[in-house]
Amino acid sequence: MNLKDYIASIPDYPAEGVIFRDISPLMGDGAAYREATNRIVTYAREKEVEMVVGPEARGFIIGCPVAYELGIGFAPARKKGKLPRETIEVEYALEYGSAVLTIHKDAIKPGQKVLICDDLLATGGTIAATIKLVEQLGGVVVGCAFLVELDDLKGREKIKDYDILTLMNF
Ligand code: PRP
Ligand code: HPA
Repeated sequence: MNLKDYIASIPDYPAEGVIFRDISPLMGDGAAYREATNRIVTYAREKEVEMVVGPEARGFIIGCPVAYELGIGFAPARKKGKLPRETIEVEYALEYGSAVLTIHKDAIKPGQKVLICDDLLATGGTIAATIKLVEQLGGVVVGCAFLVELDDLKGREKIKDYDILTLMNF
């Protein structure tokens, strides 16, 4: 199955000159969603992952089925103001704008092997912020998995010390 067939490319969204890569056709097709999830699960098994973390919102779409299939936990990294208990936070730059990402203080146990999942690697700001949160809690980031990598934005360079799986490159 060619997963790229399930990514829609939208020119000039959300700004002129940007080609937005939309994963919703992939999620909307049961076989494609399962195939993408299974590829990440295989990678996670190799890395002996103990916990999955995903940044809001699309990181949940990728990370939750992976955690479910592995029978391990999932911790959400959420935008500021969304988590009800004690959190730590990191501010980061986005391709368009900036944001603050938070995680519950007890989300990760020190030494736990963590896989971070998201739909897409663009500038790398979101994944770098998520890595910081996990490491501040004592977690060990053993891998970062994405459906899509946007090569021109060089996000990979921001996380070059980490192992990365991307299923598709544009
Ligand atoms: C998008 C995407 C990634 C991030 C990638 O999320 O889902 O998380 O941007 O960009 P980066 O590599 O430049 O950080 P967004 O912040 O738009 O939030 P959403 O998932 O809630 O739509
Ligand atoms: N597509 C989807 N999400 C994104 C993109 C994109 O091109 N860039 C940053 N987040």
